[in-house]
Amino acid sequence: MASREGAPPSFTASEATASSLDRQAAPAHVAIIMDGNGRWAARRGLPRVEGHRRGVEAVRRAVRSAIELGVTYLTIYGFSSENWRRPPAEVADLMGLLKLFVRRDLTDLHAHGVRVRIIGDREGLSPDIAGLLEEAEERTRLNTGLTLVVAFNYGGRQEILRAMRQLAEAVADGRMRPGEIGMETVAAALDTTGIPDPDLVIRTSGEHRLSNFLTWQTAYAEYVMVPEFWPDFDHDVFRAAIDEYHRRDRRFGGLSDKAG
Ligand code: IPE
Ligand code: IPE
Ligand code: MG
Repeated sequence: MASREGAPPSFTASEATASSLDRQAAPAHVAIIMDGNGRWAARRGLPRVEGHRRGVEAVRRAVRSAIELGVTYLTIYGFSSENWRRPPAEVADLMGLLKLFVRRDLTDLHAHGVRVRIIGDREGLSPDIAGLLEEAEERTRLNTGLTLVVAFNYGGRQEILRAMRQLAEAVADGRMRPGEIGMETVAAALDTTGIPDPDLVIRTSGEHRLSNFLTWQTAYAEYVMVPEFWPDFDHDVFRAAIDEYHRRDRRFGGLSDKAG
């Protein structure tokens, strides 16, 4: 087609994008709400589980891309506290896929220097899943590459509630005075202790909501909502979201750093 012939070869275009990215540091922490597996499958007349299966492949791509793009922390929302409301068969599929992912991919993640962290409520999980998650964290604890934070059985409000109980117990035991509870104390009592707040939150599938994700931590995150369903998420979508992030002006309540 004429318009195609007139366009530069695609490798030139992608090199140009890559070099413009290289000039700016990647956001240190990208958090992704992986949404749209079910709709991806429905559009193809496939069962929802097929969308979830393809979603696991998108997770592998996202991890590779995050490493390539120089992201330090990648958080992925795998299963929310509210996802128990789905039919038992779908919940079982999602649990099965998590197990498969950890069993199949842990060695590879470890070989790539990935450090795995799990956030969310472990109490509500079956012992075999809790054990696998524990193993993933333990085996990769000393790695120094990308930190992959998996939010599983996670809800932001539930996390804050657990932190509040923990702090209340410290006060009740006389280990802490109420006046000593500050931003840092609260942050340290959350599952994400030691992890910097997300700079960029990406949600796929065109939905514009947080769905109880990182409620405390995303107070000043930039949000980029992309129309692609999660199984279609790839390096180009990831890079475009980061490009969009770089066009934003983060002020944190102060004045703009950008000229003009
Ligand atoms: C994301 O896809 C996966 C999980 C929430 C576990 P969905 O299953 O939410 O897919 P849609 O939103 O119904 O299309
Ligand atoms: C958010 O997606 C949870 C995960 C991505 C794991 P949902 O599909 O569960 O969110 P809602 O129900 O549309 O808000
Ligand atoms: Mg959804």
